[in-house]
Amino acid sequence: MADKPTKGLADVVAASTALSDIDGKAGRLFYRGYDIHDLAGRTTFEETAHLLQHGSLPNRAQLADYGAELVRGRSLGALVESNIPEIAAKQGPMEALRTLVSLSGAEDPEKDSNAPEANRRKAARLTAQQPILVARYHAARTGGAVLDPDPELSIAANFLRQITGREPSAREVAVFDECLVLHADHTMNASTFAARVCAATLSDMHSAIVAAIGTLKGPLHGGANEQVMRTLEGLDPTGVAQAVRDKLAAGEKIMGFGHRVYKTEDPRATHLRRMSHELGEASGDDTFYRMSKEMEEVVFAEKGLNPNVDFYAATVYHYLGIPTDLFTPVFSVSRMSGWTAHVIEQHADNRLIRPDSEYIGERDQKWAPIDER
Ligand code: ACO
Repeated sequence: MADKPTKGLADVVAASTALSDIDGKAGRLFYRGYDIHDLAGRTTFEETAHLLQHGSLPNRAQLADYGAELVRGRSLGALVESNIPEIAAKQGPMEALRTLVSLSGAEDPEKDSNAPEANRRKAARLTAQQPILVARYHAARTGGAVLDPDPELSIAANFLRQITGREPSAREVAVFDECLVLHADHTMNASTFAARVCAATLSDMHSAIVAAIGTLKGPLHGGANEQVMRTLEGLDPTGVAQAVRDKLAAGEKIMGFGHRVYKTEDPRATHLRRMSHELGEASGDDTFYRMSKEMEEVVFAEKGLNPNVDFYAATVYHYLGIPTDLFTPVFSVSRMSGWTAHVIEQHADNRLIRPDSEYIGERDQKWAPIDER
């Protein structure tokens, strides 16, 4: 008979990884040994993706090669292109991304190879294509034209241009790039675990990423950033504290708070709070930032809970002009770099992931023919 399960696999070590590490008590996060506070604002998303997928921060020549690979890799196949309008008409953003990434697997030039080098190239293509898919989806559903990505610009700059239809300021690009860095990887979070479970059957890269996208969508994981914004929009700015107390008293969860691993401030939230403050002031109307601060104070006072990565990301994306229902897709744009690196890592030292379960159903049932049931 199996042991009692640990509900939600809390504190269960499910894999070994050299990609990222969390010290939940101290509130620290590392990508391949680099402190997130050293990377944020100083390392670009492209450098971070290279760090995760190739194992090192790139030098200039490596970054030029990787950047060129990303530019080449972002063109979409005919099957994906032709299906975007219908998918955009019928599916929400995360479902659409799940479908489009699945379709892109059918057109990947190395779809039949699971070799490490092929998967590294697929990782670059998926990382390059994800922001384009979000932008093309958004353009299709709004009937707008989408600007062509500029090969001279970063993923962050191109994405903001394509989504907002205007030239972002250098500061907006820097802020958004930092957001992408902050979301790139995070140990055995639910979507990464889903990707690794799929990869561990020796399934292919695109299948594992589809599993991850479906898992990120839920409001207890990546979907929380959208819910944070919807909560803020639904609150009266003059009655935030009481409204939050009422929600907590009614047993409601406040989206964007709490974390399975961090017992103190999530180090990513520290940066996102600062950026939300800055962008709120620069916009001339920092109401949502101030409401967020008030929510943070009340939730901490009432429940001792800290904001997680999703809480201040919501207002940062809002101030950058990103539509609310694209907040979770933005998360996927960044996390693609980590998911793909985890698939490569899983394949490098694979064993099928197949845990046990505790049986809690009936026993010793007597079978009867269908007419006697
Ligand atoms: N608001 C109110 N109460 C909360 C919250 C919250 N956001 N988070 C946890 N709690 C309470 C729970 O009600 C529970 O209280 P109880 O013991 O009195 O029943 C206790 O804290 C423990 O909560 P669990 O949900 O059991 O903690 P778990 O580790 O399973 O869940 C999670 C972590 C899912 C992040 C949780 O804190 C939550 O639901 N937060 C809101 C959703 C969210 O922001 N998700 C994004 C997480 S970050 C990411 O995935 C990118």
